[in-house]
Amino acid sequence: MKTIFIISTAILLFSACEPSSNSRHRKNDDSVYQEVYRPQLHFTPKSDWMNDPNGMVFHKGEYHFFYQHYPDSTVWGPMHWGHAVTSDLVHWDHLPIALYPDSLGYIFSGSAVVDKDNTSGFGTVENPPLVAIFTYHNAEKEKAGSIEYQTQGIAYSLDNGRKWTKYENNPVLKNPGIKDFRDPKVSWHGPSKRWVMILAVLDHVELYASADLKSWTKLSEFGKDYGAHGGVWECPDLFPLTVEGEGKQKWVMLVSINPGGPNIGSATQYFIGDFDGKAFTPDDNKSEIKWIDWGQDNYAGVTYANAPGNRTIFVGWMNNWAYAQIIPTEKWRGGASLARDLSLVNVDGNIFVKSTLVPELLKYSTENAVLSDIKVSDSINLTTQVTFPLSTSIIQGVADAKDFTIELSNSKNQNVKMGYDSNSNQFFVDRSKSGNNAFSKDFRGVIRADRYAKGDTIPFTIVVDVACVEVYFDGGLTVMTNLFFADEPIETLKVSTPGGEINIRDLEVRKLSSIWTKESL
Ligand code: FRU
Repeated sequence: MKTIFIISTAILLFSACEPSSNSRHRKNDDSVYQEVYRPQLHFTPKSDWMNDPNGMVFHKGEYHFFYQHYPDSTVWGPMHWGHAVTSDLVHWDHLPIALYPDSLGYIFSGSAVVDKDNTSGFGTVENPPLVAIFTYHNAEKEKAGSIEYQTQGIAYSLDNGRKWTKYENNPVLKNPGIKDFRDPKVSWHGPSKRWVMILAVLDHVELYASADLKSWTKLSEFGKDYGAHGGVWECPDLFPLTVEGEGKQKWVMLVSINPGGPNIGSATQYFIGDFDGKAFTPDDNKSEIKWIDWGQDNYAGVTYANAPGNRTIFVGWMNNWAYAQIIPTEKWRGGASLARDLSLVNVDGNIFVKSTLVPELLKYSTENAVLSDIKVSDSINLTTQVTFPLSTSIIQGVADAKDFTIELSNSKNQNVKMGYDSNSNQFFVDRSKSGNNAFSKDFRGVIRADRYAKGDTIPFTIVVDVACVEVYFDGGLTVMTNLFFADEPIETLKVSTPGGEINIRDLEVRKLSSIWTKESL
C-alpha cells in the first residue's frame, strides 16, 4: 500500500433496524438456514431443488413467489410450483406446494394474473380469481418419441393462492408440433381489452390473445433473426416502461437463452421496441444484444404482475444451467436474485433497462459506515473504517470512471474482486480465488460485462450475501449476479487502482441482518 488519503474521517452510524413485530416471519425455521453457503438476504427454498421464478403476482397485500421446485431431490426432476409470499419483497413465508404434476405432465414455468373482471368465470368480480398459466411437460410422451409434449394449462385460486384448482378442460393451448413450446407470460392489454400471452418457441417468441384465458388465438411471432441465438429461447416477458426524463413509453421484451449467454451458459437478453397489441416491432439492430444481467447466475427472470405503485419488479433464478445441478450446496440447490425495480434510460439515443435494488431492502440495515471522499492511489484497506462483518452487506458509492478494483476477502484470503477496466470499457467480477470453484469448468473465474453508460463517474451498488454477490454499475445499467463458495465469512474490504489516483465519493457500507432469523425481525 503506497498512499492513503481519507479526507474526511469515517463516521460510524448505528442506525436502528426497522423493528418488526410481524410474527408471520418467525415461523420460518431458523435452524435450517445456517449452512455455510446459505445466503441470508436472498430467497432460497428450505430444502431441495429450485429453478425459475414462476407466477409472480401481487394480490391483497402479498407478493406471491412461485418457483420451479422438485421436492424430492437437490437436482432437477418432475416439476412442481413451490410457493412463498412476502409483504415487503425482503422477508418470506414458505407456503405448501401450490401445483403438483398430474396426468398431463410436470408443471413447467409460467405466470399468474389477477383476473379482476372475472373474464375466466372462475370467480366473481367481488372475489376475482388468481389464474396461473403454465406449461405442462409430458415426460411420458417425450420418452415415447413424440415431439408434442409441451402444452399450456391453467389453474385458479379463490383464496389468495393457498388452494389451486386445475381447469377441467386443460390444456388451453395445444402443441402445434414443435418440441420447445413453453413458459407463458400473460398480461392484460388495456387498449385491446384482452389478455396477451408471450410464449417461447424454440428460437423465437409467439404472441397469443384471449378474452377469457381459456381460448387463445395466435397473433404474431418475433425473434428468429434478432438477438442472441446460441441456445433455446425460454421464459419471455413483455411489458411497457417509461423512459426516464422523457415520459415516452417503450416496450421491453425479455428472453432468456440457454446456452448462449455472454459468460458461458444461461443469461437473459432484452429488446426495446413497440407493441401495438398484436406485434412487437424492435428499435434495436438485428445483431444488437442487450443483457439484463451479465453475471453467470441470473436466469429466467421475469416481472411481477399487478405490482402496486406502477412498479415493474424483476426477479431471476440465481444459478446457471451450465453447472446448476452440481453447485456445492447440500440441503437445497438454487435461489432467487434480489427483487429489482426496472426503468428505462436513454444513452445517446439508445435505450437501456436500468435495474435498481428495491429500496425495501435498505430499510433493514442494522449498522452503517459512511466514508466520504476516499482518494486511492495503489490500494487502500477500508476494513478498519467498517467495524462490522461484511458477509451480508450493501456497499454503495460513486467512483471515477478510471480503472479500479473493489476486493472483498476472508481470513483464508479467498476473495471476490469487482471493478472497471477502462481499456476494454468493461466491468468485471473475478471469483477465480473465491474458494470452492473446482466443481465445474464452466464456473467461470472472471466474468466481464460491457459498459452501456457514458460519463466520468460510476455509481455502484454491491450486495454481498454469504455466497453470492450482486453488482449494479452505473446505477444499474450494467448488472452482474454471481455465486461464489468461500469457506469463511467475508470481512475485508479493499479498493485499489493500478495507476494514478481515483476518487471514491459517498461510500456507504450497510450491514444487513439475516432475513431468516428472529433477530432481524
Ligand atoms: C428455464 C426452463 C424453462 C422450463 C423450466 C423447467 O430454466 O428450462 O424453459 O419451463 O426451466 O424447469
